[in-house]
Amino acid sequence: MMDWTDRHCRYLHRLMTRHALLYTEMITAPALINGDADRLLAFHPAEHPVALQLGGSNPAELARATRIGAAHGYDEINLNIGCPSDRVQSGCFGAVLMERPGLVADCVAAMIAASPVEVTVKCRIGVDDQIPADVLPDFLHIVSGAGVTRFAIHARKAWLQGLSPKQNRDVPPLDYPLVHRMKRDFPHLHLSVNGGIMDLDQAQAHLDAGMDGVMVGRAAYHTPADILLDADHRIFGATDTPRSAEDIACLMLPYIDAHLTAGGRLNQITRHMLGLFAGRPGARGWKRTLSEQAHRPGAGPEVVEAALAQVTQQAA
Ligand SMILES: Cc1cc2nc3c(=O)[nH]c(=O)nc-3n(C[C@H](O)[C@H](O)[C@H](O)COP(=O)(O)O)c2cc1C
Repeated sequence: MMDWTDRHCRYLHRLMTRHALLYTEMITAPALINGDADRLLAFHPAEHPVALQLGGSNPAELARATRIGAAHGYDEINLNIGCPSDRVQSGCFGAVLMERPGLVADCVAAMIAASPVEVTVKCRIGVDDQIPADVLPDFLHIVSGAGVTRFAIHARKAWLQGLSPKQNRDVPPLDYPLVHRMKRDFPHLHLSVNGGIMDLDQAQAHLDAGMDGVMVGRAAYHTPADILLDADHRIFGATDTPRSAEDIACLMLPYIDAHLTAGGRLNQITRHMLGLFAGRPGARGWKRTLSEQAHRPGAGPEVVEAALAQVTQQAA
């Protein structure tokens, strides 16, 4: 997720779940090709498994970006066909490509030919006045024909005119039954459902309905302890004792030290930690301490320790 799932966020989330697949922010193929790839793609080895998400619609560029991403050690390269970009200003990428499955097939074919790791697709159920029940099966048929076997489907349309990207995450209605039907119609494909999934009970219900996977965006970011700390145990069947949010805060301290030593700033990391104690006594004090102090010059791990004290005092 743009501006959210940077490397610091992913490191934090990986401390909470060993098994969930983590995704980068989307990087467009031209940005990667023309930019500082080492800086854009750097990640901590602890983040594995981690998927790089690319945006674009030029097969040759996407192949090149895929090669660069795979060479940097990503476990999967994902093509974004879900982002409601403005088709005029931003060039042709994201959800607008739901209208051009043939071009998407060309893109993924080029990416697969260039990639030693799996190429996957994240898509919508349709855009604008498309009829999802017609276009989604066609899209899956055509794109899987080019070799993709794993899709994450955001179960709502994108309306490319008149809605902001934020509205496009909430306003178009969710159609989970259609996505479930796709799993029945394409049993050989690995299909994950995305959109509006708030907790692990809802995630489990989608798995019980036959889905192969569940992708959780905003809830995992805002309430990471609720979603991620129990995911290994409840979803992946791990038997070791889940860590607590307090454990996670403490485990972040050496990572924070290393980041500060390398010249980074505290709030680059702590901005992703604000929701760690969401819903628990002391959450407000935790959040306030981090928000007010972590951006100050020279702020260090002592700010996190002070914030944590707000939580532990409430618990005592
Ligand atoms: C701040 C933000 C940035 C996002 N950036 C991306 C992105 O880069 N690529 C992508 O495929 N989806 C992106 N999304 C959409 C989410 O991946 C997801 O599809 C959407 O929020 C619905 O799922 P949710 O209800 O679980 O959040 C973003 C969402 C948010 C809130």
